[in-house]
Amino acid sequence: MSEIQKQIDLSTQIAGVKLKSPFVLASGPLSFDAEGMIRAYRAGAGACVTKTLRDNAAINPVPHIGSFGRDTLINCEKWSDFDADIWIEKEIPKAKKEGVVVIGSIGHTPEEAKNLVKAVADAGADMIELVSYSEDTMIPMVDIACRNANIPIICKMSPNWPDPASTAVKCLEAGAQAISAIDSIGPTLKIDIYNARPEMNSEDGYGWMSGSAIRPIAIRIVSEIARKDCKELIGIGGVTKAEEAVEMLMAGAGAVGVCSIAMLKGIGVFEKLNKNLSKLLAELGYSSIEAVKGAALPNFPKKEIIGTLDFKFDESLCTKCKKCEIVCCYLARKLEFPQMKLDEDLCRYCGLCISTCPTGALKGKVSV
Ligand SMILES: Cc1cc2nc3c(=O)[nH]c(=O)nc-3n(C[C@H](O)[C@H](O)[C@H](O)COP(=O)(O)O)c2cc1C
Ligand code: SF4
Ligand code: SF4
Repeated sequence: MSEIQKQIDLSTQIAGVKLKSPFVLASGPLSFDAEGMIRAYRAGAGACVTKTLRDNAAINPVPHIGSFGRDTLINCEKWSDFDADIWIEKEIPKAKKEGVVVIGSIGHTPEEAKNLVKAVADAGADMIELVSYSEDTMIPMVDIACRNANIPIICKMSPNWPDPASTAVKCLEAGAQAISAIDSIGPTLKIDIYNARPEMNSEDGYGWMSGSAIRPIAIRIVSEIARKDCKELIGIGGVTKAEEAVEMLMAGAGAVGVCSIAMLKGIGVFEKLNKNLSKLLAELGYSSIEAVKGAALPNFPKKEIIGTLDFKFDESLCTKCKKCEIVCCYLARKLEFPQMKLDEDLCRYCGLCISTCPTGALKGKVSV
């Protein structure tokens, strides 16, 4: 690790709770018990969210998790398959004993919030994350949670609700201290072509999508919540590497939840994410999470920008892959190495060639 990297402060805080790293193990199969959370914490996670607790243990259909490829999953997994009592009496205290920052996830009804919030807080959880199927049940859950616990309450937003950013504001007004966004997206469908039937065996064959494919939706929703002045925000959804975590932070998150990529690549991903994030922040000139948090928010265009692109071609970085030429729908670009030719009459300045250049050999600056 370079000297500059060592000076990067990866610590952050959510609702006053200090985290050693911005990466949070989001609720899912890796936090099915204390052991999973302890492993994630030791690997470098700043906090771990339990699998969602409800009044009754879940029985899951078989199978209930599949892969869409490209770091993207479908699942119809329900909440925790442990009774809440096991979490309260054994798993949360065990994780706390090992120093894990524990976020107790509780779903999905006001009745269950009444039954579980105090017990989970008393078991030692540092924060509570409320999960619900709709805004209508989330708001009363917040009210009950605030009256039953004196630890921070986080509300998890679903992308499947009509307006998660407005719901986030209502949750904060109802007393929540922080927001997390987003949960998996759906319902979605994957067909097993060898058996001509849905791959998931939920009642309707549907499942929910997580991982890389949902990231642009997650980042958009996180930015919308942040632009409504929410400062305590955990951004979750599709983050697989440091660059994507920086996007999430720049969109306004102060911490980054990770579920699918840790399932697909193993718990060691936290160590790698921390290392690469330090390196990347140093390269980008940010000294801390606080410094990069929300960096993109002042730069959203207020109106459409009409103009052209001033291209720059650096032949020393060009691998002659011709991706820039192939993706140009208007046949405006031609690589005649070492020259990069552009027909300005054909070019629509769409930007795809610079966005797909894998090495940064082709760049473009907006000119108005
Ligand atoms: C198999 C699986 C199970 C999940 N179970 C829960 C859960 O019990 N409670 C919850 O709030 N979110 C659950 N999630 C959603 C994740 O916490 C997270 O919000 C979502 O997967 C997006 O993050 P990712 O793209 O990093 O996976 C689950 C996700 C997966 C893939
Ligand atoms: S995409 Fe980039 S690296 Fe590939 S040929 Fe074009 S400029 Fe060169
Ligand atoms: S900006 Fe668009 S239209 Fe112009 S050369 Fe690149 S890909 Fe073609």
